[in-house]
Amino acid sequence: MVAPFLLFFVFLVSSCGDILVEEDLLKRPQAKRCSDCHSEIFKEWEKSRHALAWKSEKFRLESENHTKVKCLSCHAPHQVDPQIKPALRVEFKEDGVSCVACHFKEETRAMHGPHKVWSPPHPSRQDFNYTKAFFCAGCHQETYKEWHLTKTQKSCQDCHMPSVGEKRLVQKFPFEYFHSKKPRHDHSFPAGKAKPEDILVELERGEPLRLKITNVGVPHNLPTADQGDPKLYIVVDASLSNGEKSRMVKVLSYQAKNALLYGVPTYVDLPWQGVEALRVSLQRKLSWKEEREEILSIKISL
Ligand code: HEC
Ligand code: HEC
Ligand code: HEC
Ligand code: HEC
Ligand code: HEC
Repeated sequence: MVAPFLLFFVFLVSSCGDILVEEDLLKRPQAKRCSDCHSEIFKEWEKSRHALAWKSEKFRLESENHTKVKCLSCHAPHQVDPQIKPALRVEFKEDGVSCVACHFKEETRAMHGPHKVWSPPHPSRQDFNYTKAFFCAGCHQETYKEWHLTKTQKSCQDCHMPSVGEKRLVQKFPFEYFHSKKPRHDHSFPAGKAKPEDILVELERGEPLRLKITNVGVPHNLPTADQGDPKLYIVVDASLSNGEKSRMVKVLSYQAKNALLYGVPTYVDLPWQGVEALRVSLQRKLSWKEEREEILSIKISL
């Protein structure tokens, strides 16, 4: 008597499973489609630089109106692979670095992610690569190499996809009631900002006076870049014994090959005699921002 019941039950579950599958999700839809259920994650991603990677005005100009072929694939990738630069996507390029590019794998035709989930609308696979820095390496190639040299235990995700606590992954009825809260990570991919204690500024009182500046807190170069042009400004104001004031500005960038390496001091000679006091401030400018932001400002009396 039990067998037919069991069979019926298995049939019911499997056919329900099929009914709930939403086929178009496995045909590489627009990111907007994922927001039907993952609306909170979508709202975060929408604000991220990844979402703007193709639409960015600066990228459009520098890639000569999206015609420089070698520039395009990381800004509209088909499928992320840590080992190699991705291939260029055919559909919905304006979505930039999209949900599908990062989560859908052609090999398994499933959404890969960090959790073990039951996700009726689309197959999913738990994949621990998502929690590792290596996941980001195919596109952030230079930064990944710099990070690797520091031997830090912190992944890119720890700082650029920080935890937002335990939350539901879906906001859509009825799924939201069937699924427990799970660890969620910030999909706005914040660049963050170095804290004052991440950078040591010391004065060496020799001839000439010089500053010793060491990045002790950010486990990659400061600034770090693959194709962008972020900058770090060292601004030194001196009060001199003859009553005059004088300013010196040094600009650090990836292009100039003078970024602060992790744990390795950078020396800046100061051009003045008879210094009474110094104000040293460090400011950063992200690639896509016009304004500078202050990281630290300290006063040194001699
Ligand atoms: C009709 C609703 C629905 C839509 C639309 C949807 N998903 Fe999901 N997704 C789910 C459910 C339900 C889960 C499981 C949630 C849970 O267990 O907490 C899930 C889980 C996931 C996971 C987690 C996998 C893991 O192992 O950590 C990823 C990644 C994912 N979806 C990506 C996507 C992407 C990308 C899209 C757009 C192409 C998408 N989903 C569209 C319902 C949906
Ligand atoms: C498919 C390629 C690709 C992958 C994979 C990728 N990124 Fe990006 N990322 C980009 C591109 C392209 C930009 C620049 C977008 C723009 O501003 O035009 C970017 C921008 C960023 C920024 C913003 C930098 C700024 O100047 O504000 C952060 C932070 C970031 N990515 C972190 C990550 C992390 C962490 C991972 C891994 C979990 C990752 N990225 C994976 C291509 C990628
Ligand atoms: C290997 C992947 C890759 C390729 C190829 C690539 N980029 Fe990028 N691009 C990135 C990443 C990652 C960032 C994020 C910031 C950074 O690390 O420089 C970025 C950021 C940028 C930015 C700054 C963000 C913005 O939107 O203002 C510009 C501009 C840019 N890229 C232009 C280009 C141009 C032009 C080319 C071709 C010469 C190119 N990229 C090729 C990965 C790539
Ligand atoms: C640049 C690649 C990238 C993009 C773009 C991206 N994700 Fe993720 N996603 C990740 C990574 C990496 C993790 C794992 C983070 C961790 O565990 O530290 C993740 C985690 C998740 C999870 C599990 C819950 C969580 O927050 O850890 C879901 C669900 C998910 N992503 C859905 C989406 C959806 C939907 C979109 C588009 C709106 C999207 N992702 C865009 C890389 C990406
Ligand atoms: C311990 C935290 C930490 C880790 C780990 C980390 N970063 Fe960063 N990252 C930062 C901080 C802080 C900044 C902002 C620096 C500043 O003030 O401009 C930053 C800036 C960036 C930027 C923007 C360009 C810039 O120089 O401001 C990119 C792109 C980036 N990180 C990518 C990565 C990638 C890719 C990884 C992993 C290979 C990674 N980061 C690992 C903390 C971290």
